[in-house]
Amino acid sequence: MSDEQARELWDAARNAIAGVAPQRGDGAASPLARYLDPARHERETLALRRLPHAVGPASRVGASGDWFATELLAVPVLVARGDDAVLRAFINVCRHRGAIIAPGGQCGSGRTRFVCPYHSWTYDSRGALVGRPHDTDFPDVPRAGASLVELQVTVRCGLVWVVPRPLASFDWDAWFGPMAGELDALGYDAASASPHERRLVQPSNWKLVLDANLESYHFQYAHRATIAHLFHDNLVQQQSFGRHQRIVLPKRTLAQAPADAASWEQLGRHSNIIYFFFPATFLLWEGDHVNGFNVTPQSVSSCAAASWMLVPAAGHARRAAEHWSRNWTIFWDAIDEDYALAASMQQGLASGANAALNFGRNEFACELFEREIDALIGDETAPTSSPSSAARW
Ligand code: FES
Ligand SMILES: [Fe+2]
Repeated sequence: MSDEQARELWDAARNAIAGVAPQRGDGAASPLARYLDPARHERETLALRRLPHAVGPASRVGASGDWFATELLAVPVLVARGDDAVLRAFINVCRHRGAIIAPGGQCGSGRTRFVCPYHSWTYDSRGALVGRPHDTDFPDVPRAGASLVELQVTVRCGLVWVVPRPLASFDWDAWFGPMAGELDALGYDAASASPHERRLVQPSNWKLVLDANLESYHFQYAHRATIAHLFHDNLVQQQSFGRHQRIVLPKRTLAQAPADAASWEQLGRHSNIIYFFFPATFLLWEGDHVNGFNVTPQSVSSCAAASWMLVPAAGHARRAAEHWSRNWTIFWDAIDEDYALAASMQQGLASGANAALNFGRNEFACELFEREIDALIGDETAPTSSPSSAARW
């Protein structure tokens, strides 16, 4: 990541502000089945389990014995750093009769054993079954074959990422590619602080949430009372990195900044950058911190969001707690507005008023994302042109 790249982004943003070649793509009609079809929801859930998701800040599991339990696409997940300092993720399910071992949503430190609450089968911090009452009653279930089921896990950009389906291996470097390198270079590593966290269940299809965060057309209206005054209207500078996307959102202050001031630091001061890691992780770099969330479907019309603030360790120490808490509030005040509108759309789309959503040429990044999901589940049906017929759903 060089200042030359920052200059390219800076110049493109300034040109767009001046009305020179603002980026546009293709408009599209987005079929309602993407948001309303229960059968499609099932296919998406299975497909999403093959891909990485951010599940929590890396700082939560920095030391041996640190752990947290969560749920991802209906799979209970346990992340633990073993007594050998290796980070592992497991399906958080007992190999005896399937009870969940560590309560979801909890975390802790100094743990050397995980004990199932049902019959006390006991696993060590590496996932091995190391004890069970009345061991001789299980002659056909050797301990060696009853370790917790391991999942692929890694740390990038200050977060723990898990593929919630057992796989023999996963090529993390190929998956993250150069886009993750930008956040790594900005100091988002395993030592990043995470002063704020939030989890919620949202009453809309998960893709409506992400669509709302891949365009700035709505900023001046939906965010009139919160962040509209900070940003230029209807401008995005988008670049695809494989299936991932980076979107620069220029702030109004950028036009007044010295023309030769381009650097990553100045870019962070005068714009926000969305790092959208396909399929479900939205990270917003706001100069001195990142706010983001991972959002995954629970049903066709509801989703679960897990959200974190990340701050590079050195930067965290330089500012008071109120600074981070104020920025977290500003972020969620705006995101709450997006989420409320996604819920309204879910209800509106189910009404039958529309046969499709209409993405404008300024909302092309939404359609790029939706088409990647279509491709992922093997449904590459091209969207129709402008819809006029009655809704199918
Ligand atoms: S289900 Fe875990 S010990 Fe029985
Ligand atoms: Fe928004």
